[in-house]
Amino acid sequence: MRNKSTVLLLIFTIAALIAFGLSEKPISAQQKSAETEQQKAPAVPKETCITAQCHAQMGKDKFVHGPVAASQCAPCHGESPKHKDDPKNNKFGVIKKISDKCFSCHEKFKPKKFTHTALENNECTECHSPHGSAFKFQLKAKGGDLCFQCHDEAIVGKPFVHGPAAVGGCVACHDPHTADYAKNLKAEGPALCFNCHTDKAETIHSSQFVHKPVSENCVSCHNPHSASKQFMLESSSPALCLNCHKDKKDQLASVTVKHGALEIERSCLNCHDAHNSNIAKNLTKEPMDLCLGCHDREYKRADGKMVTNVKKWLTENTDHHGPIKQKDCSGCHNPHGSNNFRILRNFYPSTFYESFAVENYNLCFSCHEKTLVLNPETTKLTNFRNGNTNLHFVHVNKAIKGRTCRACHETHASNFPKHIREAVPFGGWDLPLNYQKTGTGGSCTPGCHKIKKYDREKKEING
Ligand code: HEC
Ligand code: HEC
Ligand code: HEC
Ligand code: HEC
Ligand code: HEC
Ligand code: HEC
Ligand code: HEC
Ligand code: HEC
Ligand code: HEC
Ligand code: HEC
Ligand code: HEC
Ligand code: HEC
Ligand code: HEC
Repeated sequence: MRNKSTVLLLIFTIAALIAFGLSEKPISAQQKSAETEQQKAPAVPKETCITAQCHAQMGKDKFVHGPVAASQCAPCHGESPKHKDDPKNNKFGVIKKISDKCFSCHEKFKPKKFTHTALENNECTECHSPHGSAFKFQLKAKGGDLCFQCHDEAIVGKPFVHGPAAVGGCVACHDPHTADYAKNLKAEGPALCFNCHTDKAETIHSSQFVHKPVSENCVSCHNPHSASKQFMLESSSPALCLNCHKDKKDQLASVTVKHGALEIERSCLNCHDAHNSNIAKNLTKEPMDLCLGCHDREYKRADGKMVTNVKKWLTENTDHHGPIKQKDCSGCHNPHGSNNFRILRNFYPSTFYESFAVENYNLCFSCHEKTLVLNPETTKLTNFRNGNTNLHFVHVNKAIKGRTCRACHETHASNFPKHIREAVPFGGWDLPLNYQKTGTGGSCTPGCHKIKKYDREKKEING
């Protein structure tokens, strides 16, 4: 092994010495060597302009242009016998229309819709050296540096820089010459991004719901070069989302009861996926799972009062209210906030007592019949009646101290029939209801009064 590498080193040294020696030789010798070269490659002209004295550096670059490598100068500069005879006579004409020269050997770019302005003045040599350079394709600079000769480097100056832009891979997206798409892009819309982000393409294409701007143009949210926020976003949720969702912006600004979910970090993204989903409205989980994903614990409100752990409540109370059976928390609550207590979609009193007005129960009556509390006597509107006396009317429909539905019903779920509560908060006390249901009526012994019974068929006389 050792012997072999020593031999190799020796050969290399000799070769280098020969090369060095050659360049030190007088012009005639050099010409001679060019002549022998010519025998091998007949295309090379008799005379070469590259000598030790003249244009010695020509052809020494890492990347040498084809004709220069073949010592051909005339195709571009033309013949100048005077110059050959007397090197000082170097009045070559200025090369007009350089691109015509280039295209005399290179295939013309296929005509496309967009041409990079840098080419419009036929300025191939703004970017390519006609002779050679240290960079592939004889480019005058590498990667982004080439482009930043003319373009503002600030486009990659923000804190979060896109991978390919950071490493000067501008031509991964832009064709430096001509392109079918505006901004000299190699592809349009998401297709450009999917060239590299194949995993994203897969999930997006296999999803049932795709956010409209995602199917149209990724750069409506992401800067392709760099931006101030992670993932090259110009702003974070919610500002990012509210840029386009103006109606939501107005709504959020005007609602008096805000939902904590939007106030905490990630905001909209706590519930919506920015790109795609298999659940309508781009939700990240099935609607009720979404709510219970956070409401599986208590939250402390600004006023110190606790928000119930709804998940626990629903587990411990097995008779669920109709809309909850249908897994529709949004039937009653507006997840984006509301002007009603507890972000309810419709008005519902926050109190135990309320002077009666039918509008006070808009929430319940958006699904239930309001006649429930309007008629003093009934034979069918409600089962909560003693004979024909409508006990809903009796309790609720009062000018002062009308009981609100919460006095008796638990809106989410309970372990008693008809969602009757076990107890109701009354000031600082949990007032028990002790509800008992019978086949034709029922009874309760609440903290409000001694035991009272009702019976739809045989009116009870309560003392
Ligand atoms: C592909 C065309 C092309 C070939 C081949 C070519 N040149 Fe040039 N050369 C140019 C252009 C274009 C310029 C820029 C001057 C101009 O705009 O007129 C230039 C400029 C020059 C200059 C001026 C100084 C400089 O470097 O800008 C010299 C000297 C020169 N060439 C020598 C040569 C020699 C020697 C050869 C052959 C070994 C050669 N060129 C081959 C296109 C060519
Ligand atoms: C006399 C013919 C001729 C002219 C004129 C000419 N070229 Fe070339 N060019 C070549 C040859 C030959 C090659 C080497 C092709 C190869 O290696 O496949 C080449 C290679 C290139 C390459 C590298 C391509 C590659 O795939 O590696 C670039 C870039 C290039 N030329 C640009 C230019 C530009 C710009 C001009 C005008 C300023 C120009 N050429 C004028 C003959 C020419
Ligand atoms: C704005 C800078 C810029 C200008 C101006 C420019 N080029 Fe290029 N050119 C490039 C870059 C960058 C590449 C390398 C592309 C890549 O890596 O895919 C390239 C590649 C090439 C190639 C080799 C690869 C290919 O696409 O075939 C040729 C040939 C070429 N250019 C010719 C020209 C000619 C001819 C002109 C003038 C009509 C010209 N270029 C003008 C930047 C430029
Ligand atoms: C010699 C100067 C020059 C170089 C080098 C140059 N450009 Fe340009 N480029 C221009 C000019 C001039 C315009 C038109 C004015 C503008 O929009 O800024 C332009 C426009 C563009 C545009 C916008 C086109 C549009 O429709 O708005 C893109 C994209 C672009 N260049 C990309 C590049 C990339 C990528 C590189 C490097 C490979 C590059 N440029 C190198 C001069 C240059
Ligand atoms: C991932 C693809 C991608 C890469 C990499 C990329 N660009 Fe762009 N560039 C784009 C897209 C897409 C646009 C159009 C943006 C738009 O329409 O808002 C654009 C627009 C531009 C423009 C037009 C002005 C502007 O900001 O809208 C210039 C100039 C530009 N790019 C230069 C560059 C340079 C220089 C690089 C390399 C440092 C580069 N680009 C790398 C995709 C890319
Ligand atoms: C030439 C390939 C290429 C193209 C085209 C491309 N990207 Fe990228 N992108 C990358 C690479 C490489 C990364 C860095 C990957 C990493 O850090 O995990 C990246 C990172 C990203 C990131 C950050 C991901 C993260 O987890 O931090 C986003 C967002 C992104 N790209 C969006 C886009 C968008 C939008 C487009 C289309 C305008 C696009 N990309 C086009 C190669 C590309
Ligand atoms: C409506 C705005 C919006 C659009 C349009 C958009 N994105 Fe995003 N993108 C985001 C947001 C917001 C994030 C951060 C997600 C997070 O934090 O969960 C992100 C994150 C990413 C990420 C990194 C994290 C991840 O999810 O992998 C990639 C890659 C990405 N987007 C690519 C794309 C591509 C490709 C497109 C176009 C097909 C696109 N985006 C369109 C808003 C958008
Ligand atoms: C570039 C503008 C734009 C941005 C930014 C944007 N959206 Fe959208 N969004 C739209 C458009 C357009 C629609 C489709 C509206 C339509 O079809 O009526 C839409 C629809 C939606 C939908 C309804 C989907 C459906 O199936 O009806 C939701 C939810 C949504 N966006 C949430 C968001 C969230 C969350 C963000 C922030 C991460 C966001 N949007 C950012 C433009 C945007
Ligand atoms: C707590 C979860 C949650 C949060 C946080 C959330 N949303 Fe929604 N969003 C939903 C649900 C559930 C729906 C579907 C039910 C409905 O129509 O209200 C929806 C529907 C939408 C719709 C389509 C229907 C409509 O109301 O126009 C848009 C657009 C929307 N959300 C945007 C946003 C934006 C923007 C944000 C952030 C400012 C946001 N959402 C935050 C849960 C949420
Ligand atoms: C990302 C977590 C999160 C998700 C998802 C979430 N919430 Fe909330 N929610 C909260 C937080 C935090 C509060 C506490 C707000 C406070 O401090 O007053 C809250 C409070 C509430 C309140 C009480 C509001 C008040 O005025 O006291 C209701 C009602 C509510 N959420 C319903 C829902 C519904 C319905 C859903 C599903 C559509 C849902 N939440 C999804 C975090 C969440
Ligand atoms: C039928 C209408 C309705 C449905 C459906 C509904 N809620 Fe409620 N929710 C209410 C009402 C009314 C209140 C106020 C109760 C009260 O103060 O008596 C409330 C209160 C709340 C509160 C605040 C509890 C507290 O401690 O103050 C949360 C959290 C909540 N709901 C979450 C949910 C979740 C999660 C779902 C779905 C699993 C849901 N709600 C379904 C009507 C509903
Ligand atoms: C989004 C629609 C909706 C809203 C709002 C609503 N409910 Fe219901 N409610 C239902 C459905 C559906 C049922 C199940 C009916 C059935 O099973 O026949 C139901 C059942 C009930 C029952 C039990 C009925 C029975 O026969 O078992 C009571 C009690 C009740 N709701 C009270 C209320 C109260 C009080 C409110 C207002 C705080 C209210 N509901 C708001 C849809 C709603
Ligand atoms: C004083 C207690 C009490 C109050 C207050 C009360 N309910 Fe009831 N409600 C009951 C009882 C008890 C039943 C069960 C009757 C039966 O089936 O025997 C019932 C049954 C119901 C039913 C099932 C259908 C029916 O009428 O039999 C609905 C719906 C209902 N109530 C809605 C409401 C609404 C809406 C409010 C507020 C506007 C309200 N209740 C206020 C005690 C009350």
